[in-house]
Amino acid sequence: MPTPVILDVDTGVDDALAILFAVAHPDLDVLGITCVAGNASLEQVVDNTLRVLDAAAAGDIPVAAGAHRPLIAPARSASHVHGADGLGGLVLPATRRTARPEHAVELLRRLIMDRAEPVTLVALAPQTNLALLLRTHPEVAGRIERIVVMGGSASVGNATAVAEFNVWHDPEAAAIVFDAGVPVYMYGLDVFNRVSVAADRAHALERGDHSVGRIVGELLGSRIALSEDEHAEYTGLIGDAGAVCSIVEPAALRTERRPVRVELAGLGRGQTLVDRREFAGEDVVHGLVDPWPVVEVALDVDADRVARLFLDTVLALPSGA
Ligand code: BDR
Ligand code: CA
Repeated sequence: MPTPVILDVDTGVDDALAILFAVAHPDLDVLGITCVAGNASLEQVVDNTLRVLDAAAAGDIPVAAGAHRPLIAPARSASHVHGADGLGGLVLPATRRTARPEHAVELLRRLIMDRAEPVTLVALAPQTNLALLLRTHPEVAGRIERIVVMGGSASVGNATAVAEFNVWHDPEAAAIVFDAGVPVYMYGLDVFNRVSVAADRAHALERGDHSVGRIVGELLGSRIALSEDEHAEYTGLIGDAGAVCSIVEPAALRTERRPVRVELAGLGRGQTLVDRREFAGEDVVHGLVDPWPVVEVALDVDADRVARLFLDTVLALPSGA
């Protein structure tokens, strides 16, 4: 039976790739998509999400708008990475789809509580909506299979020297989610930065005769253009899509269960501190720290396998032209 998932997105070049993959893969049942401000404004994120669903010829997947800014921090855009419209300059046709009138938190609650089996949440954006959900409707926690988080890092950051964008954008929200007692799988920058499509393949897709392939090629191309400029880390990354791939092909990743804490203060704000020690240190032995939530952290990935899975899956979507 397909895994029931709800995506929380800030579409976003790589969120768009993730939506295409999730809709296309037969082992996933996308119950709904909730939107949050992050890579672009909330309104832009909703519009992009609806247009991407059209491009995938998706069924009637409910979409709802959520938080337009982080819990405490001010909203900041990522237009230098995703472009002014969030899709790196890709222009998708206008859509007749509309967002549901209910707030994302209410759509999440309803979809989770109405489902007989536990639901997997896939957080591909700042975790504001999910934190609001867990605080407003704590009863959902026991009905969530796990939260797959694209966020954090056990090594370097991208938004700051140590903080990954999604966690950095709303660190308080991430701290609430990591600490909610729901199993968390962290697909952080350690693996996110590794799964990419080669430039020649991306450009060939862009020029090809498959409508979804052209979109995928153009989205990847916007990343490649950045990497040719100044952001070396943005080669044809599939980004958020890799987190969704990890649900259907978990064996392509190596994970470790590690204590993780979200840093909220000072220059380290937004960093995910991952305790990778083999033996407890003085802080633990002397009871100086409260126990940190234990998270399944992805630390290594068979990047070629995941990139192949991604391309094979999205290119199986029907071509609209
Ligand atoms: C994350 O931030 C956004 O730019 C991407 O969509 C991804 O979710 C990477 O740090
Ligand atoms: Ca994202």
